[in-house]
Amino acid sequence: MKQKFYIETYGCQMNVYDSELVATLLNKSGYEKTDNMSEADAIFLNTCAIREKAEDTVHNRLDNFQYLKKQKPDMLIGLLGCMAQHLKDDLFEQKPFVDIILGPDSYRKLPEIIRNRRQLEDHVVDTTLSRYEVYEDLFPVRASGVNAWISISRGCDKFCTFCIVPFTRGRERSRSLQSIVTEARKAVAEGYPEITLLGQNVNSYRTETGDFSELLEAVAAVPGLERIRYTSPHPQDVDDRLLQVMGEHANICKHIHLPLQAGADRILKRMNRTYTRSHFLHLVERIRQILPECSLSTDIIVGFPGETEKEFLETLEVVSEVGFDSAFMFKYSMRPGTKAAEYSDQVDEAVKQERLERLIRLQKTMSLERIRRHIGTRQKVLVEKESKKSDRQWAGRTDGNTWVVWDKTTETPRQIVTLEITDAKGITLFGKRID
Ligand code: SAH
Ligand code: SF4
Ligand code: F3S
Repeated sequence: MKQKFYIETYGCQMNVYDSELVATLLNKSGYEKTDNMSEADAIFLNTCAIREKAEDTVHNRLDNFQYLKKQKPDMLIGLLGCMAQHLKDDLFEQKPFVDIILGPDSYRKLPEIIRNRRQLEDHVVDTTLSRYEVYEDLFPVRASGVNAWISISRGCDKFCTFCIVPFTRGRERSRSLQSIVTEARKAVAEGYPEITLLGQNVNSYRTETGDFSELLEAVAAVPGLERIRYTSPHPQDVDDRLLQVMGEHANICKHIHLPLQAGADRILKRMNRTYTRSHFLHLVERIRQILPECSLSTDIIVGFPGETEKEFLETLEVVSEVGFDSAFMFKYSMRPGTKAAEYSDQVDEAVKQERLERLIRLQKTMSLERIRRHIGTRQKVLVEKESKKSDRQWAGRTDGNTWVVWDKTTETPRQIVTLEITDAKGITLFGKRID
């Protein structure tokens, strides 16, 4: 009987993609995936280290696995991804029942490690980071759905002072344009109407055959590809050429995720974000000149070391001024090993919490105001899944990435339909089918 593996994924889309890579590698070596962990011979956790909370979740999960392992001592437990990279040997000390620890550049070794592990009776750690590994030749077996994630680069060289990613993912490297286009074609052949190009700094993509704008153009020309998204760009690398290419191709979605992080120049500088508040605001203006319909989302951190009340208010000001359609908002979380962890002026937890709540309150009103502009318009929406509230309704996203809910008619998932938008609540639009 085939050996079975189970894999659970935390963190960003890059990890979702990587779990698909791992599944592909294991499938090729004769292992079969299962969604039922009690029948698995090997259990993997693909982990995230971005905030302390992400790590806590994995620690709790591991404690559950320890219990499972007591009942089934032969079962292998493997920790993959960013936390594996970050904590390495410390993890073995804390959790001796973990058998395998592999960082994000070591997945090719997994099948061999599992084979040998059965003879070895010892732990295996491999967290070597590579300057070259992009898993170029591996085309992942995808989970079903409407969107195919395609990793175009790995690693990050930006070293924002709060961020663990440059340490867990290593140096930035881009995959060849040709292999990305081939993967996009495959996704279309498998029936995916949408792809999302992924990279920690997706728009700093560069190879001898082209930069990010050229890659987008090449991907936009893939026949049958209806929607192209990308995430996350760094504001520093958004230029006019990129905006023009977005404008020239109907299948490139008019949505940009533009992480602000903070609104005060002193904090931005301490974060090493390389732009000022006024650069950021100019960029937003430029986006709206070239792509008037483009929606914007962002990431914001409150309570970065040394952030004063006045500086926090500057963040609120930028948030009001820009009017993001949506935002991911976080309390600063200290990450050992990063520069900001050494700053002595850490902000009190209660202050961070209070700032986060004020920011969320403001963004809620901004989001609603922004999405209300669609009421009365017609929007193309990709049918994605059943609405959480009712099995008689669908949920799908507009080109600008806003969720819409509507009563089912004859449509099916992966189809693009035209809806008239009739209402907006919270961050969700409501509509009715008109085509
Ligand atoms: N590469 C992407 C972001 C990856 S992490 C980019 O540069 O946009 C996603 C988000 O997590 C970041 O944008 C940031 O807002 C948040 N984040 C990263 N490190 C954090 C930390 N130490 N504490 C709180 N939030 C953090
Ligand atoms: Fe982290 Fe900054 Fe790199 Fe994004 S750009 S992954 S926030 S270091
Ligand atoms: Fe987390 Fe690693 Fe992604 S730290 S956010 S899984 S790159």
